[in-house]
Amino acid sequence: TVGTGKLEDVENIVEQALSLLKTGDGRQETGDKRQEPEDISGSLAPVSSLLSHVSDLAGENFLITVGGTREAIDPVRFISNHSSGKMGFAVAQAAAARGATVTVVAGVTTVPPPDGVHLIHAVSADEMHAVVINELKAATVFVGAAAVADYAPANPADSKIKKDGRDLMTLELRKTLDILNDVSLHRHEGLLVVGFAAETNDVVGYARSKMEKKGLDLVVANDITKAGAGFNTDTNIATILTRSGDEIELPLMSKREMADRILDEVLRLRQS
Ligand code: CTP
Repeated sequence: TVGTGKLEDVENIVEQALSLLKTGDGRQETGDKRQEPEDISGSLAPVSSLLSHVSDLAGENFLITVGGTREAIDPVRFISNHSSGKMGFAVAQAAAARGATVTVVAGVTTVPPPDGVHLIHAVSADEMHAVVINELKAATVFVGAAAVADYAPANPADSKIKKDGRDLMTLELRKTLDILNDVSLHRHEGLLVVGFAAETNDVVGYARSKMEKKGLDLVVANDITKAGAGFNTDTNIATILTRSGDEIELPLMSKREMADRILDEVLRLRQS
């Protein structure tokens, strides 16, 4: 399972194979006259459907927030959430595979980042906000996939808080900056803004109001109470809402597959 001889993750093998088929690197370097990619894709249906996406996002610069944030209480304790980063990384991987340039601003994640993306780490909501604003000018699509803490300790302590003499403890919290909202407020010509909404009830209603309140082009809404959806799973179930009023239901599928469905809608918005 580890070290020399470990089989590479199948998803990585597929990504690498697709990228070779896309660029034709092997053939160019060796002068080898093997079949053209079109010939191969005709006989392999699943590969053919993956190849149909190849490079359709070339020229786009994605800026994607991923994972959870950590908000310090003192030097040893923090407030955080269950985000794994899987959905955001899947969008990053899919966008890169389709020819986009991808910058990922990652908070705390439990899975490794995909290859082929520019990765910047940011632990707290404030740090993530600063990095995003700094990187925003170059972006053509912003995707807010991070589970950013909505509140952070108002006065984090410089030294470890001791429990001696305290039976009751109150933590004062302040609202964090809303990264997605700020991106939308400062948007430049041509920037598409995509948000996520994790809800437990009235999913589409809350997601639609989030879209209007934050001025989003697209919202991916999911009911985190459904089996197979939400935090730390490899699958998801969601509804994509678009600014033009469309509602696209996505049944249970892998997060990687869902990433491509989300990107299909981004592309549709770009072309509309
Ligand atoms: N988001 C953000 N910055 C924050 C909070 C959220 O960028 N400080 C983004 C998330 O990345 C996600 C979307 O906003 O794309 C979630 O919307 P939000 O209204 O914040 O949802 P919740 O945090 O679930 O808010 P509420 O508890 O009010 O439903």
